Amino acid sequence: MDTIEDLVAGLRAAHGAAAQGGGERLRARHAQRGKLFVRDRIEMILDPGTAFLELSPLAAHGLYDGEVPGAGIVTGIGLVHDQPCVIIANDATAKGGSFFAETVRKHLRAQEIAEEHGLPCLYLVDCGGAYLPEQDRVFPDRDHFGGTFWQQCRMSAMGLPQISVVFGGCTAGGAYIPALSDQVIMVEGTGRIHLGGPPIVKAAINEEVDGETLGGAAMHSRVSGTSDHLAPDEATALQKLRELVRHLGARRVDPPPRAPRAPDPAFGTPQDYAPVDLKRQVDMRALVRSMVDASELSEFKPEYGSSLITAFAHLHGYPVGILANDGALFTQSALKGAHFIELCDQRQIPLLFLQNITGFMVGSEAEREGIAKNSAKLVYAVANARVPKYTVLVGGSFGAGNYGMCGRGFRPRFLFSWPNARIATMSPDVAATVVTDLRRGSLKSDASEDEIAALDARTRAQFEAQSDPYYATARLWDDGIIEPDQTRDVLGLCLSLAAGAAGDTGPRPVYRM
Ligand code: COA
Repeated sequence: MDTIEDLVAGLRAAHGAAAQGGGERLRARHAQRGKLFVRDRIEMILDPGTAFLELSPLAAHGLYDGEVPGAGIVTGIGLVHDQPCVIIANDATAKGGSFFAETVRKHLRAQEIAEEHGLPCLYLVDCGGAYLPEQDRVFPDRDHFGGTFWQQCRMSAMGLPQISVVFGGCTAGGAYIPALSDQVIMVEGTGRIHLGGPPIVKAAINEEVDGETLGGAAMHSRVSGTSDHLAPDEATALQKLRELVRHLGARRVDPPPRAPRAPDPAFGTPQDYAPVDLKRQVDMRALVRSMVDASELSEFKPEYGSSLITAFAHLHGYPVGILANDGALFTQSALKGAHFIELCDQRQIPLLFLQNITGFMVGSEAEREGIAKNSAKLVYAVANARVPKYTVLVGGSFGAGNYGMCGRGFRPRFLFSWPNARIATMSPDVAATVVTDLRRGSLKSDASEDEIAALDARTRAQFEAQSDPYYATARLWDDGIIEPDQTRDVLGLCLSLAAGAAGDTGPRPVYRM
């Protein structure tokens, strides 16, 4: 079995490879055209020395023969003149920055985060529109390409600035990103916007026209007015973008209510506790302490429902209510969790879920105690809590435990995984038992023991592969895999984005469970 050090090294290697975009040949061509790489562009718009919280850098990992690293798009949150902004930037070295299903998902997810936190969106556009061979997975449905434009229009109407810089050829869907922006900057020579490129124009109306005449930056800045600023080169365009953000007059980050205090080094770091072998219990209390300010926890009901740790703490100075699994969830732990969530909701304290969960307890004793309805109370409390919620998969995330501990379906503001995490309806062992049992009982035909053994092996292999955190992050089931020792800083940044926002001040009852 890999150690956590091996897993972290593997994660760094995967991030490094994804950051290379479409590979050496395409990067060389990109550079020859005088274009900057997508991460260099982002670096140039951020305040110097500040962090960039990149989201889902391993989207599309292992898909499309590895030709679309990061799904051809870089998204994340960074500071521009002290203003947190969501940045959505195409990587033209990956299939011309065209959109695959995971690209759309990643783009939409970044917009969702911008809307939820009231942040401006900066689009660094270098995009060939829908990747045509995949058009049925990209174009027609609600949460496909059209959904990104719908979001852009709505966010603009909400007063969340939408600003684009156009670096490359933007056709069709790619053209709509700048066309629907509040303000547009175009780079002379390389930036193009056209609903149909020269070949489409030729086919449609038999007009022969070159790309620059049809949709070049000079034409759009001086004639059509689609662009508001003509920049002679990329560096100037990026500086112009910083200038536009400086004049937004939008909200800045609220400082933490309390001075942050580092965790007590005596507790080590989160990586020391990462549950790699999910069959072994780890010291979850120490794991939590290694992450929070001064390693201080104020536990709620420590003597009751002990398989769920519930505690008030601070993280980078921000108050937070933490729920962390320490074994399977029983009726008592579910009720305690629901009660704690109500307390945090009443006090407007954000919730942090640290998942390492096999599921809720099964068996006749658990059923007689009412685990079905009591676990549902936890799920209900999670769904209706109005405070910001954050989830980190620090170990296993199986079954309904995923729901009770605020899995993706329960809309946490952010959900991150550790490289040792596993996510599936159930573990490979349990799945193999269930599936072979079903086969034995099937009315279709009798299965030989050899067939059952083969089914057992197939099911195990399927569940092993699909519960892998890379499989999950490739499909945007999380916002990225992070290193255990980055968790405190990542969460601090996430909490800072929500701090100071007006909360829902309606009545918040606390029903004793
Ligand atoms: N659909 C399918 N493939 C696309 C694509 C799209 N929309 N846009 C780019 N590609 C592919 C190219 O075929 C090429 O693939 P390859 O590496 O396997 O040969 C790769 O992406 C890079 O494209 P290329 O044209 O070599 O890059 P470029 O930097 O010179 O030009 C674009 C980039 C986006 C300007 C140009 O590819 C283009 O105009 N694409 C088509 C745009 C279009 O008509 N979109 C309509 C979508 S609704």
